[in-house]
Amino acid sequence: MEKIFVTYKIPEIGLKLLSKFNVEVNEEDRTLSKKEIIERAQDATALVTLLSDNIDAEIINALPRLKIIANYAVGFNNIDIEAAKAKGVIVTNTPDILTDASADLAMALLLATARRIVEADKFVRKGLFEGWKPELFLGIELNGKTLGIIGLGRIGKAVAKRAQAFGMKVIYHNRRPLTSEEEKNLDVEYRSLEQLLKESDFISLHVPLTSETYHLLSRSKLKLMKPSAVLINTSRGAVVDEEALIEFLQQGKIAAAGLDVYENEPEVPYALKELDNVVLLPHIGSATVETRNNMAVLVAKNVLAVLEGKKPLTPVY
Ligand code: DGY
Repeated sequence: MEKIFVTYKIPEIGLKLLSKFNVEVNEEDRTLSKKEIIERAQDATALVTLLSDNIDAEIINALPRLKIIANYAVGFNNIDIEAAKAKGVIVTNTPDILTDASADLAMALLLATARRIVEADKFVRKGLFEGWKPELFLGIELNGKTLGIIGLGRIGKAVAKRAQAFGMKVIYHNRRPLTSEEEKNLDVEYRSLEQLLKESDFISLHVPLTSETYHLLSRSKLKLMKPSAVLINTSRGAVVDEEALIEFLQQGKIAAAGLDVYENEPEVPYALKELDNVVLLPHIGSATVETRNNMAVLVAKNVLAVLEGKKPLTPVY
């Protein structure tokens, strides 16, 4: 019987769909080492992985029966795609179904930073609330402000829609601009990256991490942002030069940041934790019950399709 190795427990609803196979799940609450994955998945034909598993060429080449790597995430920068391709191993991800949850979280970070929600919550808990004051926790109004979206794909478009409902003007930067008809339908305007950085009051990142987007917001690009601007990152930490970002936030060269992702996850630099103008989340973009269940089902359907000799639903190449 074909074996499926799952590197970390995913929702039962997905695992149940795979029950006709021999499914081995790592039940421990930790990321497995490379050696452990190779040992435990040795005879597996399918490998279910998380975005925190670094599935490199060494792992892929050490698993002789492997047919599919089903990543429980939309991003797949944790997998060596070239090595998988070279070995004929299919790689799948979980697009579409997490779009709304991820866009909601980007919006939540945008609102939380604009209105200083976390700072204000801490203030109340510390017993510092003495009564209403005209200038207590003044934030930034969203209505009439410009949101610059970098990466207007599925999630970027869903964020645009939400931001427009708050009265924001949306500009975007993409590798390939949309057609003018699409721009009209979505009510968005294209800008070069430099122009977007100069013009935006809020910037939200929605690009995958690739060799082209690594440190896309480098020190010199961050310098172009307005000192009053806010950066939201729910994509991947390494899209931004984190060290430069910390410096800019410390020096007030950027007003605030809402971060769900970090350059070396799960490590979060101490300097970031010390800043009041930053909202920090533990990579929970897709973390709703509905979405995580749907992701588990899609992962299972991809595995089933490949093990039954059919085409996967959401291959990445
Ligand atoms: C993904 O699926 O890539 C997201 O980062 C999860 O939150």
